[in-house]
Amino acid sequence: MAFSLCLVFLPLGILSASLLCLAQDQSGFISLDCGSPKETSYREKTTNISYISDANFIDTGIGRSIRAEYRTQFQQQTWYVRSFPQGTRSCYSLNLTAGDEYLIRASFLQGDYDNNTTPRFDLHLGPNLWTTVSITNSTTPSIFEMIHLLKSDHLHVCLVKTGASTPFISALELRKLKNTTYLTQSGSLQTFIRADVGSTSDLVLRYGIDVFDRIWTPFNFQNWTQISTNKTVSIDNDYQPPEITMRTASIPIDPMAPMNITLTGLNGTELFYVFMHIAEIQELGSNETREFTIEYNGRRLYGPFRPIALTTTSVFTPFSVGADANGQYLFTLRRTGNSTLPPLLNAMEVYLVNLLPQEGTGEQEVDAMVQTKLGYGLNKIDWQGDPCVPQDYRWDGVACSYSGNDPPIITSLNLSGNGLTGKILDSITGLANLETLDLSNNNLSGSVPGFLARMNTLKVINLSGNNLNGSIPASLLEKSQQGSITLSVEGNPGLCSSSSCTPKKKKNSAVVPVVASLVSIFVVVAGLVTFLILKKKKKNKPEFSAVSGTGTTPLHSSSLHSYESKNRRFTYSEVLKISNNFERILGRGGFGIVYYGILDNNPVAVKMLTGSSVQGYKQFKAEVELLLRVHHKNLTSLVGYCDENEKLSLIYEFMANGDLNEHLSGKRGPSILTWEGRLRIAAESAQGLEYLHSGCKPQIVHRDVKTTNILLNEKFEAKLADFGLSRSFPLGNETHVSTVVAGTPGYLDPEYYRTNWLTEKSDVFSFGVVLLEIITNRPVIDQSRERAHIGEWVGLMLTRGDINSIVDQKLQGDFDQNSIWKAVETAMACLNPSSARRPTMTQVVVELNGCLSMEMARNQGSRMTDSTNDSSIELTMNYTTELYPGAR
Ligand SMILES: *[C@@H]1O[C@H](CO)[C@@H](O)[C@H](O)[C@H]1NC(C)=O
Ligand SMILES: *[C@@H]1O[C@H](CO)[C@@H](O)[C@H](O)[C@H]1NC(C)=O
Ligand SMILES: *[C@@H]1O[C@H](CO)[C@@H](O)[C@H](O)[C@H]1NC(C)=O
Ligand SMILES: *[C@@H]1O[C@H](CO)[C@@H](O)[C@H](O)[C@H]1NC(C)=O
Ligand SMILES: *[C@@H]1O[C@H](CO)[C@@H](O)[C@H](O)[C@H]1NC(C)=O
Repeated sequence: MAFSLCLVFLPLGILSASLLCLAQDQSGFISLDCGSPKETSYREKTTNISYISDANFIDTGIGRSIRAEYRTQFQQQTWYVRSFPQGTRSCYSLNLTAGDEYLIRASFLQGDYDNNTTPRFDLHLGPNLWTTVSITNSTTPSIFEMIHLLKSDHLHVCLVKTGASTPFISALELRKLKNTTYLTQSGSLQTFIRADVGSTSDLVLRYGIDVFDRIWTPFNFQNWTQISTNKTVSIDNDYQPPEITMRTASIPIDPMAPMNITLTGLNGTELFYVFMHIAEIQELGSNETREFTIEYNGRRLYGPFRPIALTTTSVFTPFSVGADANGQYLFTLRRTGNSTLPPLLNAMEVYLVNLLPQEGTGEQEVDAMVQTKLGYGLNKIDWQGDPCVPQDYRWDGVACSYSGNDPPIITSLNLSGNGLTGKILDSITGLANLETLDLSNNNLSGSVPGFLARMNTLKVINLSGNNLNGSIPASLLEKSQQGSITLSVEGNPGLCSSSSCTPKKKKNSAVVPVVASLVSIFVVVAGLVTFLILKKKKKNKPEFSAVSGTGTTPLHSSSLHSYESKNRRFTYSEVLKISNNFERILGRGGFGIVYYGILDNNPVAVKMLTGSSVQGYKQFKAEVELLLRVHHKNLTSLVGYCDENEKLSLIYEFMANGDLNEHLSGKRGPSILTWEGRLRIAAESAQGLEYLHSGCKPQIVHRDVKTTNILLNEKFEAKLADFGLSRSFPLGNETHVSTVVAGTPGYLDPEYYRTNWLTEKSDVFSFGVVLLEIITNRPVIDQSRERAHIGEWVGLMLTRGDINSIVDQKLQGDFDQNSIWKAVETAMACLNPSSARRPTMTQVVVELNGCLSMEMARNQGSRMTDSTNDSSIELTMNYTTELYPGAR
């Protein structure tokens, strides 16, 4: 499966002329000639790519030279290799930007640099296995490529010794891609093949021809013939395949035959993404048409489709495709009945999915470890790459806590007896989950820093056997005396620990800190007192604040009046009365507990907010004013609120039938939700969401669309709950600095997660997930399933044509097939990885109303025909409109 190309390193004589005229900017390129001397910097003659030495990106390994005779045969970046005779894992460390997408290429040419001409070792990307490198011929280069979207600012590419042989590497290249391209539902993409189909030159193309320096191999097939044009072909879409590849294409020799492309040498478990680049390059007569479909394992994926004259259309799978039951991966381009010409194909890329399941240690903790390593000048051979994962290569002296593939956390750092000098470094504070810190038996000097007392997770601190001086911070001593920290400081002759300071000389220095702390305590106390007095004053004379309030902001207070009719704002004691002292809990939501209440003889739901940030409280009022203005039959309406001394609550209309999730899961007894009922709920909640997106000014993004936020009233009418709140009440641990994104796992838009850029299309994604739950009645995330996420799982089932396994068995087949398919299509469109390609909620509403009327027509007895499989096959093909062209 290695992507191994001999031609790449050969001088591309014929091409170099055109390379020079097409000289392109190399911004976004990182080109490392591994093992070359530190000051190395040159432009490779045949490709014009600028290389530099790798020395600043890695700490270990030694530069070696390939055999001199080979130099003339291969490009310059292969002349040296970096070889790693010492240590087990050696990592390149690159500082990039999270959210950027790179094509990462590692190249290996053994070139007889040492005696072992058939080495074998592993290549890792971060904490995950990328591939095993196995060299069998010292003059045959091996190249591995990965298209990877960065989750953090660090990227580690590691070589791992797995047997007797010594790992080495020739070149490491990174090319920044547009992060609107090569998107996946999950995982990264390993190049399987990148083919210049119908090439007439037999040349391998790369930079100079390709702006992203993708490597294209010529690809011809005996049953196919080539066509070409000398005219300009537009390549103006985000994929930008090289124009030269688009000017040539293959067509079948037999004009009636389909073009079949099979992926081989696989075990059937692999998943792929496929990208086809297609342009009409023949001049068609007025009575000629070229129209074809793209099928995968016998099912239509895309089309019928007519390639556009001299314009590139990039067609790709937005979901990964797997083998069918026979282990087959067969793509077919087949002409339609109306076509007078056979299909054509100009270029094709196939990528294998590598899920890279293990997440790396948190960025902050990695930074803390790197700073500590640099700060102490620690020269530890295994301190490379991720400190915790893979577990086998955890850094010596570091202990971590693991939970599946989640990011591990660093719980212990033991640098005992490492000859550390200087002070205790501040960088240690970055280890936010540290429980044990052992710095004993070093030569550390300076004082014991106060931050140790503020690291709340710390339980054990061992500083014994150093040269620390001064006094131990009072707060730390206190914790130690209380027993919440085990503190060892013996063997620091200059350190004064508590009252037992015997050396007379030190007495002064011991007293001073105490005085200092007394002073500071005094200051604090004084401040408190003043504050209390002021507060009291204010309370005693409320008229002052009232006068100044209305005096300075008359507009504000009058505008407040218009929304805030008196009976909508309640005091806390009124809330207690309404809820009868919080007698009955209705549920627990993301923002707090919801209680049953009675207001004016009507049932209501009282939501007590437990906001997690002060910021949230500040915005509460603005938010409430907004919400009080939002009225739509498919949104739960706010009837009142309370905002008293940080007791915040919202009072909503009561929804007698609970939430959709309870009905689907059967928690409310045997489900009475028919397909028609489900469609109605879907269409109604879609309308509520559409109103937030298009009917409100400013637009409201819900941010937490999920089945538990779709509520049903006594008539089973659906209303969306919890909208608008999320703007001021962060969910989970979100703070302004962290990159943790609000939302519920599984419903969260991967693009939002990646970019932190919130749009209404993130709600569309979540709504797509809700729709799939309505159709399948299966969990959103289920690790025991072939694909954990419901969207990917449904995508996989669809590529297998397995519609019956998707639909909720509880429906017992009692539904209109067309309607189900249309709903599935709509859901999958909502889940498109690229937010720009998702429909708007307005479009979703139209689609769902269409589904609903089909199903209603059936239920009213006017069944279209016997809804046998025929119609479903027809529609199965429709599913494929999900595989859209990338052309703009
Ligand atoms: C390595 O490959 C080259 C070119 O394919 C071939 O000429 C050579 O004999 C091979 N070397 C070995 C040791 O197999
Ligand atoms: C393109 O130009 C070359 C050289 O001028 C010529 O040999 C070739 O036939 C042309 N091809 C087409 C398809 O016109
Ligand atoms: C298209 O028209 C040309 C002449 O104008 C004729 O020779 C050719 O056979 C026609 N092709 C088809 C498929 O009808
Ligand atoms: C051929 O085209 C006609 C008119 O555009 C259309 O009605 C017909 O369904 C097409 N037939 C096939 C087999 O695509
Ligand atoms: C730290 O490592 C030393 C040996 O290197 C060991 O004696 C000591 O117990 C370790 N400390 C902790 C807290 O485990």
